[in-house]
Amino acid sequence: MLPIDTVRAAFPALALADNGVPRHYFDAPAGSQVAGRVVQAMSDVMIGACANDGGLFRTSQATGAIVDHALAAAAAFFNCEDDEVVFGLNTTSLFFQMAPLIAHDWRPGDNILLTRMDHDANVSPWMQAAQARGVEVRFLEWDRESFALRLETLPDLIDARTRAVAVGHASNMLGTINDVTAVCAAARAVGAISIVDAVQSAPHLLIDVAAIGCDLLAASAYKFFGPHAAIMFVARALQARIPPLKVRPSVDAMPTRLSPGTPSFEAMAGTAAAIAHLAWLGEAAGTAGADQPLRTRLAAGLAAAQAHELDLARQFLAGLGSLPGVTLHGIANPNRLHERVATFTFEIAGHSADAIAAQLAARNMFVWNGYYYAWEPAGVLGLRERGAVRVGFTHYNSAAEVAALITALAAITGN
Ligand SMILES: Cc1ncc(COP(=O)(O)O)c(C=O)c1O
Repeated sequence: MLPIDTVRAAFPALALADNGVPRHYFDAPAGSQVAGRVVQAMSDVMIGACANDGGLFRTSQATGAIVDHALAAAAAFFNCEDDEVVFGLNTTSLFFQMAPLIAHDWRPGDNILLTRMDHDANVSPWMQAAQARGVEVRFLEWDRESFALRLETLPDLIDARTRAVAVGHASNMLGTINDVTAVCAAARAVGAISIVDAVQSAPHLLIDVAAIGCDLLAASAYKFFGPHAAIMFVARALQARIPPLKVRPSVDAMPTRLSPGTPSFEAMAGTAAAIAHLAWLGEAAGTAGADQPLRTRLAAGLAAAQAHELDLARQFLAGLGSLPGVTLHGIANPNRLHERVATFTFEIAGHSADAIAAQLAARNMFVWNGYYYAWEPAGVLGLRERGAVRVGFTHYNSAAEVAALITALAAITGN
């Protein structure tokens, strides 16, 4: 079990209060709080090793070591090789960078498959590339009852002319965890490139690109307790199929081959520290030893986080279910909670999402209103105009916080 007080003490921001009112962070799906060791690692880099890499002097050599360490940490995080990792500003820009490279040999008559569940970061880059190449865009729909992708329709949507399939691992609106392994297998069967957006799964689940069988996968460090940066897995097989994205003098080897310009070395150090934090959770829970390999500790840490988040999800759903007029846009069945992350989008009859979020904000409870760039699912649900409330729980949230949120929602809605 996760020792919640010890875990919370690892996040300096969780101790903050405003006019004596503690902050309640339920906004992690948009951006999580940052582990203290991340702040420390970034500060250390900017004070003690602030240089470009590739030089012969002390701080430059230290920077090179930071890059190597960060690539190794990200490779352990994804379960891939160090030369299959790219760091970038955020997932959206990484996908926009990759799209024209991947699309360079697409032809009219080809098609790509996207989903109606994805964040637009995993839709627009591929859609724009398809439009530029005269390629058809198809959509995989999701079921309004089960909140699951309609995988049974894949045989009708994927054919010999399908060049790429892009799917989200966990939805930032519905919370659904998708069977990305099945989708990637269907893509592979026709030689299509498979792309996975793991931004909403990475803070909660152990990512395994080998098991998923994808060609490309990205996650954003600022959603998994790190700095504003993103990491991307690019399978060696995919690297061999695409042109480089580099200036002529830079080395034609990973990661520079696909990461133009000087990266944020401090963000690399911070991302490695965020991964170390997730691994530490296993030690904190007593299910992994400090001497075990990083990947083993990550598995233990994320399993402990998942168990804790499952408890919070159960508690929240029970509380939300006791309020009248609630519509939850996602899986509510207690027997299916393993099919979702603890991200909940809901509406309460008679109360706008904006009003609920504002009244929670007045209580120092941070939740989102709107549609969070989940443009396609918001279109399906008719939420692009009115929006909905979104709360997300992660391993640093406590049962007491969830109880306080339910009490506040009851008060706001007059119950
Ligand atoms: C599922 C999903 N994909 C992609 C993104 C975009 O990530 P970034 O801000 O790193 O571009 C988000 C951000 O909320 C997201 O939730």
